[in-house]
Amino acid sequence: MKALILVGGFGTRLRPLTLSVPKPLVEFANKPMILHQIEALKAVGVTEVVLAINYQPELMLNFLKEFEKKLEIKITCSQETEPLGTAGPLALAGDKLIDGSGEPFFVLNSDVICEYPLKEMIEFHQSHGGEASIMVTKVDEPSKYGVVVMEETTGKVEKFVEKPKIFVGNKINAGIYLLNPSVLDRIELRPTSIEKEVFPKIAAEQKLYAMVLPGFWMDIGQPKDYITGLRLYLESLRKKSSGKLARGPHIGGNVLVDETAAIGDGCLIGPDVAIGAGCVIESGVRLSRCSVMRGVRIKKHAYISSSILGWHSTVGRWARVENMTILGEDVHVGDEVYTNGGVVLPHKEIKSNILKPEIVM
Ligand code: GDD
Ligand code: MG
Repeated sequence: MKALILVGGFGTRLRPLTLSVPKPLVEFANKPMILHQIEALKAVGVTEVVLAINYQPELMLNFLKEFEKKLEIKITCSQETEPLGTAGPLALAGDKLIDGSGEPFFVLNSDVICEYPLKEMIEFHQSHGGEASIMVTKVDEPSKYGVVVMEETTGKVEKFVEKPKIFVGNKINAGIYLLNPSVLDRIELRPTSIEKEVFPKIAAEQKLYAMVLPGFWMDIGQPKDYITGLRLYLESLRKKSSGKLARGPHIGGNVLVDETAAIGDGCLIGPDVAIGAGCVIESGVRLSRCSVMRGVRIKKHAYISSSILGWHSTVGRWARVENMTILGEDVHVGDEVYTNGGVVLPHKEIKSNILKPEIVM
């Protein structure tokens, strides 16, 4: 079986992190986003993953080489010379996706995180005999997604509306598809949207089916959703393999700590924290609801909450970092500095307080 992951777009909503690496390589729970997906695809027997990309393919391929070997899966790129949207890339990679076997192939948005019930999806696809299957999930704010109206019992999709202006329903496209090769005949090689141009047509022919995704789901392409996604992911990890979570008197709630990270005395860490490789957390530090990327140093008695700290940044003693502060790569926050929602570009030094959410260039 084959799979295509849509990795285009510039990840602008996840800046400043995406100023340093493409969005799919930004770590989520100590692992690049895209690896969560590649591992899940491998687990259901996918042998080749095609990355549909429109910039820096060498960077992605070089990075993934190691995992290609480790996971024994072929990873290739299909590069666009202009952004082709969410459907055009399928036409471009068409030859790579079909091998004459008639088997369906997976298509994934690169920024969604869940438990990837792909085995269940294959079974579902086989059971309905339609042309395409999509996973859907319920959300409170459907307007920023693709909304699906479906027949409850069979899953047959009656309507697919991308980013509706008026309320249509609260089940939304989760960005995970299983498509028969014939879907490729419907897509022209030009910039085009699978959500606006392809799914509505397949639905009108009553050949589009939706499966309600069991477990959690989140599009982690924006900082606030990334932090929420981390909470949901760690909660699911507690249920499935709690041995991976950190334990000890200094841990409260679900916390993931890389084995190469060092944590000083008298810290209180959690809930919902991920600490990456090589991090140094000095004594007396308080961390909650945050992601601390590789190589970060947090000095004594600092307080971090609801924030993302980019690679190799440092936070000074008694500093207070909170309210969706996002530090880019190699940012240095001085001793006793307060940041309330600062979004700080890479390689900056912060010497004075950031009192309200703002971008620091
Ligand atoms: N190769 C390529 N080329 N990929 C692209 C392009 C492009 O021109 N444009 C977008 N993508 C990729 C993005 O990298 C992402 O993985 C995926 O296509 C979806 O694009 P987003 O920009 O993240 O879309 P969205 O989040 O607003 O909406 C989509 O995802 C929702 C779920 O998170 C839609 O599929 C919605 O229907 C869905 O509900
Ligand atoms: Mg998205």
